Amino acid sequence: MELEYFDDGSSFFAVAPFSIDPATLTDFSLFERYPARNGIFRFRCLLTNTKLVAVERLKKMLGTWDTLYIHNAEAQDYKAYLRENLEFILNNDAISISKKTSILVNLSTDAIKETFAASFVPRSKIRETVENLEKFVSRALDFLSSIESLKGIAAMIGHDYDTHTHSVKVGWLCAVFIKANPDLFGNPGREQLRQLLLQATVAGCLHDLGKVKIPENVINKPGRLDNLEYVLMQSHPAFAIALLYEKELPDETLQAILYHHENEDGSGYPCGLAGDEIPLPAKICHIADVFDALTSARPYKQEKTPAEALKIMAGKNPYLDTLKIFEAEAAKNAHPPVTTIVRDEYDPKLRRLKERHIIEEVAAKRVDARVKLQDQGMSHCFDAELLKRFIVTLSKSDSFDLSGLL
Ligand SMILES: [Fe+2]
Repeated sequence: MELEYFDDGSSFFAVAPFSIDPATLTDFSLFERYPARNGIFRFRCLLTNTKLVAVERLKKMLGTWDTLYIHNAEAQDYKAYLRENLEFILNNDAISISKKTSILVNLSTDAIKETFAASFVPRSKIRETVENLEKFVSRALDFLSSIESLKGIAAMIGHDYDTHTHSVKVGWLCAVFIKANPDLFGNPGREQLRQLLLQATVAGCLHDLGKVKIPENVINKPGRLDNLEYVLMQSHPAFAIALLYEKELPDETLQAILYHHENEDGSGYPCGLAGDEIPLPAKICHIADVFDALTSARPYKQEKTPAEALKIMAGKNPYLDTLKIFEAEAAKNAHPPVTTIVRDEYDPKLRRLKERHIIEEVAAKRVDARVKLQDQGMSHCFDAELLKRFIVTLSKSDSFDLSGLL
């Protein structure tokens, strides 16, 4: 690498010197930047081969610089370095939570993106990318599961919805929740708790992996989904399991992914499980998923504040009874079949038209009832005790304004 560069600053990116561990520095070069003249900066290389400098000397040098720069050509090496040294960064008190969060989110989003992208390539690739993700989560687990890290999550609340960052936050919320409520799992020992945290966090990160198999126009449809689109959408938990089939992940991880849309009252999907039939990690993932979805902005929907979101999640839905009556009627009307309802019509063409009309009418009513349910009180979806604990856990950090909720 050359020793001096002149450019508009776009070929370099800034890094904080204290995020670099002098003991494990690899051989990328570090630059300093001089003030711009006519919009052009001068970058001077401080170290070309950091391996030649003794660790203690390097430590002192790193302490004297405010900001360092790395050339874009070495961005991948730097990312690999960060991934390898994640524990040093996350456990370093000199680094602010916001800095840690941004490093963590960037890297974990990358790891999740790789897995989501791998769904289109040979299956062996999925195994590799999930293993990378597991390794990554394992390194970050102490930080991810600590109450203090809620500050990092709070800073990301209210941003635009993005599948990958949403996945990071869901995994992260699962980790914090489980660490704060180990009694729910029978107060496991240190190693067992670690396994549990790892499984639930990975599940949170991959819970929507199956969406890569759903057509884009259905995923991003701003309005109501019609019946076919709804059925397609409901298959995403099962698609995820199919994609992860070869990886042989622990049952706990797969169950949390498969059942993250099951509702406490049995009205969820894909299996309609209720109450104790739904595994605990899946219930936790469900709460984290909905909380983050409600607090994220969409092009067609404004984000809710954490307190508003939790109020909706804990509230009773005024349309729920209507939907249940409607569903019961629909089930009853399934017999006799539509063909016998319109049997008095002798013209076959006209009969088919009438039948189609009835089917479409029922489908439209169902879609209508479902839409009314949205964002209107979701207490039927969650385990009340778990949701309460979720609110208590979030309120342990002063980063969320949850006054009046408890
Ligand atoms: Fe989902």
